[in-house]
Amino acid sequence: IPSVKEAGSAKFNHKTAIAIDVLRATSTIVTALAAGAVSVIPAETVMDARALQRPGDIVGGERFSRKIAGFEFGNSPREYTEQAVGGRRVILTTTNGTRAIHKSMRADTVIAASLLNAEASARFALEQRRDIVILCAGSHDDFAIEDGLCAGLLVEHLKQMCPSAVELDDFGGAMHALYRANADSVLDTLMNSQSGKRLQKLGSAEDIYECAKVDSISIVPYLNGDQLILK
Ligand code: MLT
Repeated sequence: IPSVKEAGSAKFNHKTAIAIDVLRATSTIVTALAAGAVSVIPAETVMDARALQRPGDIVGGERFSRKIAGFEFGNSPREYTEQAVGGRRVILTTTNGTRAIHKSMRADTVIAASLLNAEASARFALEQRRDIVILCAGSHDDFAIEDGLCAGLLVEHLKQMCPSAVELDDFGGAMHALYRANADSVLDTLMNSQSGKRLQKLGSAEDIYECAKVDSISIVPYLNGDQLILK
């Protein structure tokens, strides 16, 4: 389980990559696709996002956790309702999450996972029958506990689904232990995380509740070319 900073792209060759940014990019991606968006296109920069936008597309994202000037939406999953995004493409650029997805693009399959769709993501990853690399987006290249917690939950599901196939590196083992120690206090862990505290200061505590709904959505976004679509 590498963090973004140590994730050299060679690590992804011939693998299945699972990118995680619980607060909030991959939670938003999962929510938007579950709400009926046709696809989500992760863009690295604000300029890229604007260049990709075609008539009818929604352009969303954040910098410093705030909506980008001129964009229709920020990075709150609560904005991506069926009414807002149903039947439309979403172009999304965020500080860490969409960058993590770009970093994993050399993998054979790239999945966007969050606490919301962890079980479905683990199942889909196993179906690919390749080694799995879990990429925690973190925050500005630092580890973020909510992403580690989600990585540990994925490991928990993988072990339950196929115990004989799971061999963990040390970091993977540590994230599994982190999850097991906090399985009953997921929301509290998110609230007390650095990203969680930042979002609460900005008045976005509701987003944390949304992002903490473990295994509440059974869809799996995966990359097809430059677009995240549903399996
Ligand atoms: C990101 O991708 O950097 C995050 O999701 C940040 C945020 O939502 O505030």
